[in-house]
Amino acid sequence: MTYASLYGQSLSDPESFWRERAAEIPWLEFPKAILDQDANGAWRWFGGGRTNTCWLAVDRHVDEGRGGQTALIYDSPVTGAVVRFTFAELKSRVAKVAGGLAALGVGQGDRVVIYMPMVPEAAIAMLACARIGAVHSVVFGGFAAPELANRIDDAAPKAVLSASCGIEVATVIPYKPLLDEALRLARQPVDHCVVLQRPQCEAALTPGRDLDWAAWEADGEPADWVAVDAHDPLYILYTSGTTGKPKGVVRDHGGHAVALHWSMQAIYGVDAGDVFWAASDVGWVVGHSYIVYGPLLRGCTAVLFEGKPVRTPDAGVFWRVIADHRVNCFFVAPTAFRAIKKEDPDCLLKRDYDISSLRYQFVAGERLDPPTYHWLCEHLDVPVIDHWWQTETGWPMCANLAGVELMQTRPGSPTLPVPGYDLRVVDEDGREVGPRQEGAVVVKDPLPPGAFTTLWGDHERFVDAYWSRFPGFYLTGDGGYRDADGYMYIMGRIDDVINVAGHRLSTGELEEVAASHPAVAECAVVGVRDADKGQVPFGLLVLKDGVNVAAAALKAELVATMRAQVGAFANFKQAVVVKRLPKTRSGKILRQALRRLIDGEPVVAPSTIDDPAIIGEIEEALRAGGRP
Ligand code: COA
Ligand code: AMP
Repeated sequence: MTYASLYGQSLSDPESFWRERAAEIPWLEFPKAILDQDANGAWRWFGGGRTNTCWLAVDRHVDEGRGGQTALIYDSPVTGAVVRFTFAELKSRVAKVAGGLAALGVGQGDRVVIYMPMVPEAAIAMLACARIGAVHSVVFGGFAAPELANRIDDAAPKAVLSASCGIEVATVIPYKPLLDEALRLARQPVDHCVVLQRPQCEAALTPGRDLDWAAWEADGEPADWVAVDAHDPLYILYTSGTTGKPKGVVRDHGGHAVALHWSMQAIYGVDAGDVFWAASDVGWVVGHSYIVYGPLLRGCTAVLFEGKPVRTPDAGVFWRVIADHRVNCFFVAPTAFRAIKKEDPDCLLKRDYDISSLRYQFVAGERLDPPTYHWLCEHLDVPVIDHWWQTETGWPMCANLAGVELMQTRPGSPTLPVPGYDLRVVDEDGREVGPRQEGAVVVKDPLPPGAFTTLWGDHERFVDAYWSRFPGFYLTGDGGYRDADGYMYIMGRIDDVINVAGHRLSTGELEEVAASHPAVAECAVVGVRDADKGQVPFGLLVLKDGVNVAAAALKAELVATMRAQVGAFANFKQAVVVKRLPKTRSGKILRQALRRLIDGEPVVAPSTIDDPAIIGEIEEALRAGGRP
């Protein structure tokens, strides 16, 4: 089947398209309705279907005779460990952990927060929750205590699963003090914490609340999977919106399983028995979809890597992992390749490894800048495929479908819309624009299976944030254009979300932290260009009248506060003090103008600005602050 015919069918007859895809996986009860609307008017897939994601990802492979196949390879250059789990071994570990959760009183619909580094127990914990119908919410291990506390308050978990530490290159990061602090800050009480003790740093446990993972798992009575409705929530994953309050993206069992299972073959061109590696973190959507669920749903071997592209031990580690585990398809954020390119510009370290198993190189998480694309094409003998998606959709919206029909790639473009996504580029009034004209990228409803169905506990925000700007269309938050052949170009966010080394952050969240400093009257944080990380945050601070503080000292304090309040991965390192912020007459901060000014681009004062003289003032402050 060609890409064009498949895409055409997905839009002209979505129900038959997705009925066929749904029939590619087993069900306990096949859905009665392929597509319908719930009481809120939201589109829902596979109503009446009965399933369980853990059964589909683990048990059924054992039942189908793949129990001896490797399901998961944990490769950890930071500890020196390489551990393989067959599907049968994974099943028995997951069943024990599921039993341990049940013993803590966790049942169907209850939430479990998972705050863990990249260890196999993180994936086991996710699958164990799915097994008993509990809803997991994985919080990226780089988040600081207040961010973890916010998520605990929103998800109200019955238990938190964590580890004693993470390892960042050679630095051991104790997690337990962060967990303790988060539980102190959270309004929501948590009765049970289970802590995986790692030998690099054992944590002191709080009697009555904390349990030692090893003993708890050993005591767990293996639990069988339970049947859930296709619409039942599988997980909540918090992501940054335009305000400080993160959005709890909710994904269901049925649509998620169908979409991810199909995407592995159609998009990534892999099937059962193939080895798939996504070098991300379980705390991000890439980790959910393509470290854990996607590969396992398809019966692939998944690689879980606890390391960095460089320094663990060198810029050759990606090639080493591909060679050691005979990886067939590799997926990582472009920033990782920029880090490698900086240390090994001619890719010499690759020569030490046989990476002939590799069939495709996928990248996503941020725009694949053409220089990095060309570098990859020069050094790899396989198709380099940029693809575009986000936490909300859970799987790609644009890609070059390796398993359907490989199209010619174009630098800077994630190629064409994926079947199921009716993408449009529209102007301010919602009118479609012509080729090469930039606008907001939107998706006509319904979103396909696997995309989020609501925001946890806040359906109103789901409607307001995503569906109210252009009724009937999902607002992706990205801007871009199409060329004359329909190739999409995603140029960046049109809202206040920024992307730092593939990590999504809200400038609103960073502003809230900066504004809480006693010397700061007002501030703006914008994302500015960075050669390595794509974007980094930059703060402009207006001081309270009468405050006398040295700019350097204030900046240092804010850098430390951002690390403690949000996390080091936010990379907040730059800020200048200004007299005032450029605003429209109605008081809105002119962020785009600020971004351009900091990036050193020419700025014409917008007609809406309240006082054009402010542009010169900011330029001067930037120069004084050492910015060219
Ligand atoms: N736990 C604790 N701290 C973390 C962390 C985690 N999980 N992840 C990052 N940090 C810390 C880093 O140790 C660093 O701390 P430092 O300032 O004390 O040195 C800081 O946050 C900044 O991290 P980062 O921006 O990641 O820079 P880096 O130099 O450590 O690594 C890259 C740069 C490119 C190697 C790294 O950002 C990377 O691998 N990015 C890919 C991201 C990704 O996979 N995103 C998922 C979307 S697909
Ligand atoms: P996240 O939800 O963390 O996955 O971040 C999603 C955002 O990352 C998108 O809305 C885009 O802004 C950006 N993004 C992800 N992949 C790409 C890509 N291939 N090209 C351009 N931007 C991307």
